[in-house]
Amino acid sequence: MRAPFVTTPDEVVAEMLALAGTGRDDYVIDLGSGDGRIVIAAAQRFGARGLGVDLDEKLVALSRENARRAGVAERTEFRVQDALRTDLSRASVVTIYLLPQLINELQPRVLDDMQPGARVVTHAFYMQSWKPDAVRKVRLAQRHASQGDESTIYLWIVPAKARGEWQARLPAIGDLKLRIHQNFQEIEVEGQADARGFLVEKAELRGTAINWSGTLELAGRRLEQRFSGSVRPDRIEGELTIAGQDPVRLMATRVP
Ligand SMILES: C[S@@+](CC[C@H](N)C(=O)[O-])C[C@H]1O[C@@H](n2cnc3c(N)ncnc32)[C@H](O)[C@@H]1O
Repeated sequence: MRAPFVTTPDEVVAEMLALAGTGRDDYVIDLGSGDGRIVIAAAQRFGARGLGVDLDEKLVALSRENARRAGVAERTEFRVQDALRTDLSRASVVTIYLLPQLINELQPRVLDDMQPGARVVTHAFYMQSWKPDAVRKVRLAQRHASQGDESTIYLWIVPAKARGEWQARLPAIGDLKLRIHQNFQEIEVEGQADARGFLVEKAELRGTAINWSGTLELAGRRLEQRFSGSVRPDRIEGELTIAGQDPVRLMATRVP
């Protein structure tokens, strides 16, 4: 499938890269890179490296020339390639200004191939079943043929895979089992500690960072608890703070 060539205005490009928190350590891939402006701006203004892919050979040649003129040819690459066949595993930031159907086809690849914590920013169109982490409106300096006076940009942060059952042992509360339900970045945590009510009221997942707050029962008293840590493929680890006590390290592993 092919989307037409329409450029993202420069002020929107800058906002997209800023919304993704682009910096020197990032590798940015623009899927359907047109004249190369997003990848070039990522290198020139944000110090990143990047790759642009486009089906149109002439636009790829133009992008290489534009990158050379902008002095960022060494930090950028442009290839004639289908966005749907592009390896996204290396990208810490992916930018997209393509038609909705293509964006929706790319969604499973984003979730499966990109690392947790990597960011995706789209211009105008969005992934329909995955709620964005942020939405911004950008006023345009000049009226845009497709977007009018204002463009909307969307950000998603690839969530770690937290779904499933986890187990831990803590001196204060004994054996702890966690069952995590996950829908993209939205999670619910159900806890079960050795005969003690372990209740998580609010849980958040942002990339690999996981936090929750709730209460637990200890020595007949219901106490506030807070957890802050990270989700790795094989473990969740961080600090659990129970009211009135020093934080303790919690390390949970997947229930086989
Ligand atoms: C709307 S333009 C966006 C250009 C640039 N990313 C920007 O924001 O200024 C879409 C570009 O995607 C290219 N394109 C369309 N379908 C594609 C596909 N399946 N794979 C790679 N490029 C594609 C088109 O040739 C066009 O240059």
